[in-house]
Amino acid sequence: MDDSLLKSIAGKYGTPLYVYDGDLVLERCRQFKNAFKGFPVKVKFCYAVKANTSLAILKLIQNQGFGADVVSAGELDAALNAGFKPSDIIYTSNSKSDEDIKAAVKAKINITIDNAAEIEAVEKAGGRKVAFRVNPDVDAKTHPKVSTALSGSKFGLHFTNDIAFNAVKKAVQAGLQPVGIHCHIGSNIKDATAFTEAAGKMMDFAVRLKKELDIKLDFIDFGGGLGVQYKDEIAFTPEQFAGAYKSAVAEGVKKLGYAPEAWFEPGRFIVAEAGIVLAKVNNVKETPAKKFVNVDCGFNVLVRPAMYDAYHKVGVVGKNGEQETYDIAGYLCESGDILAKDRALPKVVKGDLIKIQNAGAYGFSMASNYNSQPLPAEVLVKGGKAHLIRKRQTIKDLYERQLTHSDL
Ligand code: LLP
Repeated sequence: MDDSLLKSIAGKYGTPLYVYDGDLVLERCRQFKNAFKGFPVKVKFCYAVKANTSLAILKLIQNQGFGADVVSAGELDAALNAGFKPSDIIYTSNSKSDEDIKAAVKAKINITIDNAAEIEAVEKAGGRKVAFRVNPDVDAKTHPKVSTALSGSKFGLHFTNDIAFNAVKKAVQAGLQPVGIHCHIGSNIKDATAFTEAAGKMMDFAVRLKKELDIKLDFIDFGGGLGVQYKDEIAFTPEQFAGAYKSAVAEGVKKLGYAPEAWFEPGRFIVAEAGIVLAKVNNVKETPAKKFVNVDCGFNVLVRPAMYDAYHKVGVVGKNGEQETYDIAGYLCESGDILAKDRALPKVVKGDLIKIQNAGAYGFSMASNYNSQPLPAEVLVKGGKAHLIRKRQTIKDLYERQLTHSDL
């Protein structure tokens, strides 16, 4: 997005602010779909709502023919609100309350069983068709905090010790109808081999279900995980992502003798690069060790650097060149609240605008009110026009649901 546009948007809506390029979101949706042209079976794409849950963004993605992957009653409500059809929504949390399960059954969405104990709750809620989230024990070679299919992971029904197989068997005995299997091996993956390994294991499991339990699945959901470039990593493209699955799925279908649909759940790839955080420089502080740019946001606005040591490119709006090395420091009372470390930037002064790039995924959706900081506003730019899509929270909002008892 053009710096002069960013400047005028920040002038109008204030900082800290999330700004999204809606045209880029649409472009990423199209790119993802195109990469699957010629895929051996019918495909469905369920956008992982957790990456960016803002309704205006969800609507853009829904309009591109995507379904939705949700993990809570809140995300389910957002997806329904944005117009996703229940049959295009899949619910994949590892820990669902009986109420969550009831809400999912009532909404007639696809539900994944993550643990044999959920079978009874689905049955009680009157559910019949179920999918199973399995854990294929694949090392996705990504950050340990976003690796989800290792043997020690909390997610899914492990293949080990026949846990997954026995859960499917138990569900059949309980009168449920298995219609799908699901896995998600991790996030921000830039290596095809892990996806291919997972694909092979999923197809083999489907073959076993057919042979031993005579189950024909409607779909196999391979999850998301396609990484994006944050720094100078080698790009991993949607074509490579689709390619990683293609032969394993084709071979599996031959062994199966029927063709279940293949579902995918991209989150980050669709929205990461479309989002920027704009923050204002409160002042520049020099210490014996460092020059800090103190900005008006912190990990309450973008937690990825603090939580995953994630690298986000930063720039100074309207300025070029590299003259000084700075850390971009957040305003929270935590030493770990550093948004970017040792960055060469043009000379920064009070009042400058810092842009933090690739913040569209797991940015606002992970924001918090830590240190009593209100949540930022969000603006969506489409066709060169800026639209406010979420109003800034106010300090008053922070008190709204609190109760003070005068007698305490
Ligand atoms: N499907 C399931 C079941 C998931 O749990 C996730 C992400 C996705 C799909 C989408 O994965 P993606 O395509 O976005 O990689 N907060 C972390 C990422 C956590 C991902 C959680 N699950 C971060 O900021 O890196």
